[in-house]
Amino acid sequence: MKHLLGIADLSRSEIEEILEVSEAMLEISQREVKRVPTLRGRTVMNVFLESSTRTRVSFEIAAKRLSADAINVSSVGSSLSKSETLNDMARNLAAMNADVLIVRDRTAGVPQMLAQRVRVPVINAGDGLHEHPTQALLDVFTARQSLGRLDGRVVAIVGDIAHSRVARSDIYAFSKLGAEVRVAGPPTMIPPGVEALGVKPCYSIGEALEGADVIAMLRIQQERIEGALFPSVREYAQVFGLNQRTLALASPNAIVLHPGPINRGVEIAPEVADNEPSRILDQVTNGVAVRMAVLYLLTGGET
Ligand code: CP
Repeated sequence: MKHLLGIADLSRSEIEEILEVSEAMLEISQREVKRVPTLRGRTVMNVFLESSTRTRVSFEIAAKRLSADAINVSSVGSSLSKSETLNDMARNLAAMNADVLIVRDRTAGVPQMLAQRVRVPVINAGDGLHEHPTQALLDVFTARQSLGRLDGRVVAIVGDIAHSRVARSDIYAFSKLGAEVRVAGPPTMIPPGVEALGVKPCYSIGEALEGADVIAMLRIQQERIEGALFPSVREYAQVFGLNQRTLALASPNAIVLHPGPINRGVEIAPEVADNEPSRILDQVTNGVAVRMAVLYLLTGGET
């Protein structure tokens, strides 16, 4: 791997290699002293030009657990506000001998564009509604912790599929690992032609959840929506929300995932989010390990 721009670019064996290294990184994160010297002297630039809690903080923790220097850059307080282009900013950061550039931006394609213009590895930390590859990697990692191999497993991704970069990356990741993927949501939130990605569109949560092993709930991506796509939040919660009643439609051993931030009482009921079989906080824990693995592999580490 030279960059990590999307799951679409990865083969099954490349995904499995990252997951294998993530296992070792998780073990490091469980030690009393959670730090190894692997990336000592390296510099990781964490460029987040869109809001983030989990991804930004976990990349910073991941870099520090590997003994790299982690530098955070946001649009507020940067020279982007003085009309500097993103391209110039990235080239200047790379000129400070950065070893990795992590980029989140509200526009799809920005990490790809920068990867063509700087000489350091670029990691996509979420670009518009395109991809969020490290989220998908931590999602499949978490699912494998509970279920083992994912071949033949049924994965239901429920919610705002059309505006979700997590949905797209999850579809690629789970499909490449052999799972059957269904997507569900109101017709206004299912992109036309989604079948071309090899998934089954469902227009009721019951159809998607029947016998599902993994339920991946998604937030309504209000920041990327203009106008109303459903009559009311209350109605959305009643028809597409995950609660004890709808959870019972899934496989008895099903697990529940959510990338966060969650909107309690909208796409997921609090009693489902906070109890078995929710793996939401495991996802956050695993996110650090997966991002350590990605940083390690992109800076020349070997399995
Ligand atoms: N899952 C996720 O990307 O969360 P943040 O926006 O908080 O990083």
